[in-house]
Amino acid sequence: MYFDPKDGMRPPPFKHSVYNALVVPRPIGWISTISTDGVINLAPFSFFNALCGAPPCVMYCPNGYKTGTTEPKDSLTNARETGEFVFNMCTHDLLDAMNATSAHVPSSVDEMAAAGLEAVDCVQVKPPRVGNSPIAMECKVLQIIDLPASENTPPNTMVIGQAIGIHVDDDVIVDGMIDARKVNPLARLGYLDYAAILPENVFAVPRPD
Ligand SMILES: Cc1cc2nc3c(=O)[nH]c(=O)nc-3n(C[C@H](O)[C@H](O)[C@H](O)COP(=O)(O)O)c2cc1C
Repeated sequence: MYFDPKDGMRPPPFKHSVYNALVVPRPIGWISTISTDGVINLAPFSFFNALCGAPPCVMYCPNGYKTGTTEPKDSLTNARETGEFVFNMCTHDLLDAMNATSAHVPSSVDEMAAAGLEAVDCVQVKPPRVGNSPIAMECKVLQIIDLPASENTPPNTMVIGQAIGIHVDDDVIVDGMIDARKVNPLARLGYLDYAAILPENVFAVPRPD
C-alpha cells in the first residue's frame, strides 16, 4: 500500500497511528534534567539518537505538550533553562522503572525518587544520572530546533547536546570493549511493543575489507 501522510497517519486498514512502527527499533534516550528550582526530572524518549562521535553529540525530541496542558514537557523546559541534560542507557532490567517515568506528573515531583531509582551526582552537569544505568553521558545543550508541526497539533522540538562527560560501568567492559551482552539495551518498536538485546541476539560480522 501507499499513503500520503498529509492525510493522516491512520489510513485504512490501520487501527492506530502507524508512524511509531515505521522506524524500528529505536534506541531509548532516558533523559534526566533538573529544573531551576532543583527538581529532578526523568523521562524516556525514543525520538532519540547519537548524531556524531567527534565530538560526541546526541539528540532527543520532546514533542507535544504535557498531557492536558499547553505547556512544554519538563524535559524541554529544563534543558532550555539550564542548558544541561544527561543521557542514561535504558536496559532490559530497568524496563518497569523507565515506563514509570513516562507518567505525566507535576513538575514539582522528583521522578527519579518516584520511580525508586538512585540519583547519582554527575561530574560536570547538575542533573544526576540514574545509578543503575550502566552508561550515561553528561551533555551541554548545543541547539534547540523547532520542528514542523501539523495543523492543529502541538509543537515538535529537537534538543541537541554535546557529551562532555561519559560514565561506563566497569562491569560491562570485557576485553577492552563495551559488551552489549552485558548491557542488554532496550529498544522501542511500534505501538506498545519493545525489544531487548539479550545475549543470544548479539553477533559480530567481519568487514569485507
Ligand atoms: C518508551 C517511550 C518513549 C517515548 N518517547 C517519546 C519521545 O520521543 N518524545 C516525546 O515527546 N515523548 C516520548 N514519550 C513520552 C514521554 O516520556 C512523556 O511525555 C513524559 O511524561 C515526558 O515527561 P516530562 O514532562 O517529564 O519531560 C515516550 C514514552 C515512552 C514510554
